[in-house]
Amino acid sequence: MNRPGARSANRSSAKGAPAPATPQRDVTAERSEADAPEVSLRPSRLADFVGQRQVRENLKVFIEAARQRQEALDHVLFFGPPGLGKTTLAQIVARELGVGFRATSGPVIVRAGDLAALLTNLQPRDVMFIDEIHRLAPAVEEILYPAMEDFQLDLIIGEGPAARSIRIDLPRFTLIGATTRSGLITTPLRERFGIPLRLNFYAPEELELIVRRGAGLIGLDLTADGASEIARRARGTPRVAGRLLRRVRDFAAVDGHARVDARAADAALNRLDVDARGLDAMDRRYLRCLADNYDGGPAGVETLAAALADQRDVLEEVIEPYLIQQGLIQRTPRGRMLAAAGYRYLGLDPKPMTPQLELLVAAGGDEND
Ligand SMILES: Nc1ncnc2c1ncn2[C@@H]1O[C@H](COP(=O)(O)OP(=O)(O)O)[C@@H](O)[C@H]1O
Ligand SMILES: [Mg+2]
Repeated sequence: MNRPGARSANRSSAKGAPAPATPQRDVTAERSEADAPEVSLRPSRLADFVGQRQVRENLKVFIEAARQRQEALDHVLFFGPPGLGKTTLAQIVARELGVGFRATSGPVIVRAGDLAALLTNLQPRDVMFIDEIHRLAPAVEEILYPAMEDFQLDLIIGEGPAARSIRIDLPRFTLIGATTRSGLITTPLRERFGIPLRLNFYAPEELELIVRRGAGLIGLDLTADGASEIARRARGTPRVAGRLLRRVRDFAAVDGHARVDARAADAALNRLDVDARGLDAMDRRYLRCLADNYDGGPAGVETLAAALADQRDVLEEVIEPYLIQQGLIQRTPRGRMLAAAGYRYLGLDPKPMTPQLELLVAAGGDEND
């Protein structure tokens, strides 16, 4: 049986999605090759998982109840920006349940048969983790519905007149889905998850705990103010915090500092072009583009993506969520707008709000909703 956290056969190919054209940056919340050693920073028990209090407390109750009844946990959907702990929590859930863990990813499952092979290999109560579940092929998603609901697979074998459908009983398992784009999940799929859980950006105090724990794990002598400096500049994201911590350690090692305090951390982060608020060159380029080329907006996301020569997905999943959370930009039905705080961040005077603009902002949402 697969132990929680064990590498699954699909693991490496799960990252086979086309790489975004985005240059490497240290504050990106996306996974990169440099994150491989990050595994050691991954908390393995719920008790070690910092932050997301409500998610943690709910999970604790549901896991405990499922354990007592010796039943499979209800299906769980984690959604939220990259790097906030979705994969980590999925592994923790399997470990806390004491069941096997299998991982794959939406784009990897091409045909219905691929999914069938994975599901028929599960032991009762095992966790099946599907990352990027919003990218499942429609034909695969269709056969997932009865699998989730009735623990049955309906497969068509053969083609043409010889085709016949067979029904396979599955063990009762737990599907854990993760997505950065809950808006892209179809309603029938979303409704089949009994436990939808949203992850939010972390507070600086929480990131500070994560950074301190990480420093302990990688053997870095980091002062309390050094930890808080890194935490404040980590874009609310544990993955970014872990990466900045490693880069700060590198600078300290080369500069011959045995111990890292706020000054050393600040110097290192400045050299990485991460500013006091955790924004990097790409964030600033986005804000500048909105201010200079589009007079603060509204500008459609496709337009911005073209102007920045970046992928729309990267803007929507990686860059914008934090800028929105920080109140620097706003989403409106007609596109993105620079918020007053965004103008101030760039050292500009906020554009006066016309009644039309106010209506747009009040409408909120997204041009694609
Ligand atoms: N609550 C947390 N406490 C400590 N470290 C965390 C926490 N959440 C995430 N991490 C760290 O951040 C990294 C990214 O988390 P991950 O679960 O891969 O994010 P996601 O799947 O949401 O993109 C992990 O390797 C882990 O080291
Ligand atoms: Mg993940």
